[in-house]
Amino acid sequence: MRNSTSSASVPRETSKIIHRLAVLVSGSGSNLQALIDAIGSGELPNVEIALVVSNKANAVGLQRALTHKIPSLYLPWSMTRPEVEAKLATLFPLFQVDLIVLAGWMRIFTSDFITQYPQCIINLHPALLPDDGQGNTFTTQDGSVIPIFRGLHVVQRALDAGIKVTGSTVHYVTPEVDAGPMICRAEVPIEDNDTEEMLHERIKQVEHELIVQAVRELTD
Ligand code: GRF
Repeated sequence: MRNSTSSASVPRETSKIIHRLAVLVSGSGSNLQALIDAIGSGELPNVEIALVVSNKANAVGLQRALTHKIPSLYLPWSMTRPEVEAKLATLFPLFQVDLIVLAGWMRIFTSDFITQYPQCIINLHPALLPDDGQGNTFTTQDGSVIPIFRGLHVVQRALDAGIKVTGSTVHYVTPEVDAGPMICRAEVPIEDNDTEEMLHERIKQVEHELIVQAVRELTD
């Protein structure tokens, strides 16, 4: 005889996977804040920020993490790259991190480090990158062909090139800098009187939605 409280009549526990992010910052951390806010408002229901790492002691991003009581760590520029990578490789499993978000992190990792975390490190880059990350040109939605800007000072370089559209891309990190496959991307028009600061600020406004979209896509 079957018991009336057999498993068929008991509501089944739903097992929900919670993804645990490490967010690495070097600056103002406005994109970290966008993630914190999205988690707070329920937009990223399967996500927690497990750890924030900064390589600048006075990074505002570090203050944001402390304000929200997120475990945070300062790994100074004076540490060698192998030292930083060894420290992170110890911390990620300790904090059960499964997605690493480079949100304005200015230190390049070695290929050995990156290949330990296939498709687990994503980066926010303030310029348009192609779908597969490869090549030297990008065709914008209005059909213009623009150069690909990788590396540093890409907002100023877009201005200097005299193009009309730039943007931002979230992409997987691979050993070649800013050349991994795209996760999501958005265009930002360049205005005639834009300074680097003005344009970067408008790009960041777009990035705040883009980074949340990318994390949602990877954790849904
Ligand atoms: C962003 O524009 C990102 O694309 C670039 O660094 C900036 C970080 O901004 N890699 P914030 O520190 O999140 O405000």
